[in-house]
Amino acid sequence: MESEQLTKANDAVRTAEKTINPRYRLGYHIMAPSNWINDPNGLVQYKGEYHVFFQHHPYSPDWGPMHWGHVKSKDLVHWEHLPIALAPGDPFDSDGCFSGSAVDDNGELNLIYTGHRFADEEKKVPDEVQCRAVSTDGVHFEKDELNPVIPLHPDPGSGDFRDPKVWRHGDFWYLVAGTSQEKIGKVVLYKSSDLRYWTYQGVLAESDGEEGYMWECPDFFELDGKHVLMCSPQGIEPLDDRYRNRFQTGYFVGDYDYQTNTFTRGAFHELDKGHDFYAAQSFKDSKGRRIVIGWMNMWESPMPEKEDGWAGALTLPRELHLDAAGHIRMMPVDELKSLREKEILSLENRTVSETQTFPEAISDQLEIEAECDTASATASAFGIKLRVGQSEDTVIRCDIDQEKLILDRSKSGRAVGGYRRAPLPKSGRLTLHIYLDRSSVEVFAGDGETVMTSRIYPTEKNEGMQLFTVGGSVTVTRLKAWNLKDIWAR
Ligand code: FRU
Repeated sequence: MESEQLTKANDAVRTAEKTINPRYRLGYHIMAPSNWINDPNGLVQYKGEYHVFFQHHPYSPDWGPMHWGHVKSKDLVHWEHLPIALAPGDPFDSDGCFSGSAVDDNGELNLIYTGHRFADEEKKVPDEVQCRAVSTDGVHFEKDELNPVIPLHPDPGSGDFRDPKVWRHGDFWYLVAGTSQEKIGKVVLYKSSDLRYWTYQGVLAESDGEEGYMWECPDFFELDGKHVLMCSPQGIEPLDDRYRNRFQTGYFVGDYDYQTNTFTRGAFHELDKGHDFYAAQSFKDSKGRRIVIGWMNMWESPMPEKEDGWAGALTLPRELHLDAAGHIRMMPVDELKSLREKEILSLENRTVSETQTFPEAISDQLEIEAECDTASATASAFGIKLRVGQSEDTVIRCDIDQEKLILDRSKSGRAVGGYRRAPLPKSGRLTLHIYLDRSSVEVFAGDGETVMTSRIYPTEKNEGMQLFTVGGSVTVTRLKAWNLKDIWAR
């Protein structure tokens, strides 16, 4: 039977849905029916369907006591809302069901999540524990009577102890969680044979002092022969073009020995260099792909959609690979091609100089695939302007001379601004794969070498897309644009 808290929460979301202003609602991204969401949680394939949960406050468009919202999909493209899966309120999760993960244990769907409790609410001192809930229909979950299944924080560690990620290796389940001690962010490891009784194995990795005071949302997995620790550190200082957001999500590549719990790792790299990507989580699907989804917002950034009755969304699912240089490449999953409704632009070997406008590419749900011959370009920079209005635009600029890719939203519209800059993939030919939605843009450059995701809130009438160059010309070897489907349209 659904608990009273869940019934109340589901009613609140559906009631608020009726009064939503749709102007910035996304057409093909995961959102709640209404009100606040943050981190993706519990990404899993279960009984042939993809499930995604997310941090959710069903009662307002602001963060509050966390619930787990829930969607599922057969194809990673078309999502369906399901009832809220977890509501807080038990002694072990009295102040929130914080982030966590999901695993399928022989047909039983297990959610392993953080029970958030305040030891001192005023001072924001948490006393966090790890909990478990199970389901056999993938919709209704029972919290384990043993909860909390990890009742004490590790030593070294603190009450900031959260975001368990569980996986299977050999005969055991493993769990990593984030913690902090004396301003050093850490990831700690546990082991279990039944997902209920866990034994502490030690620290998997920790900050060298410059890498953050708290490591949130860890994830640990094999990728193309190496081990990757992905996590979301709080407290890394900005350095040149890097770490410009409030917090970052990034990764360390290395080698791991299960016998000794030794992870030898390289430097921290940001996974996505736009304004809005955080708390990413991954899973391996039945096709063997490592797929990652992030929260498509950032803590403390303005979210003008709040006044419309909602806030927050998740990024498109992206497939990860390791390249020869040992860096992660991230590309949108192939299934997203099924969003294409109509090809609205097709160019071949088009030499662009100065500005060319394409009013036919007017959709606010647009996919663009382009390849540019940078080796023969005489321009010092070129790029694409999206959501071009009378005075607004969102600019993707490839600066060939400076070898930078720039996502500039200083004239994108309301509330947000600024630009993000990252290395321009080096090769004589540059590929750009872009997904534009009503209030977001995701740019995959150089076959996923540099990825940038940002939210935008245009206010003016959309007059289409522009190609531009600075000081010369560039040949666009091919460019195609499609108008994309709205998966939420009823
Ligand atoms: C990351 C995070 C997690 C926590 C959750 C709370 O964005 O702070 O560490 O579990 O959000 O909503």
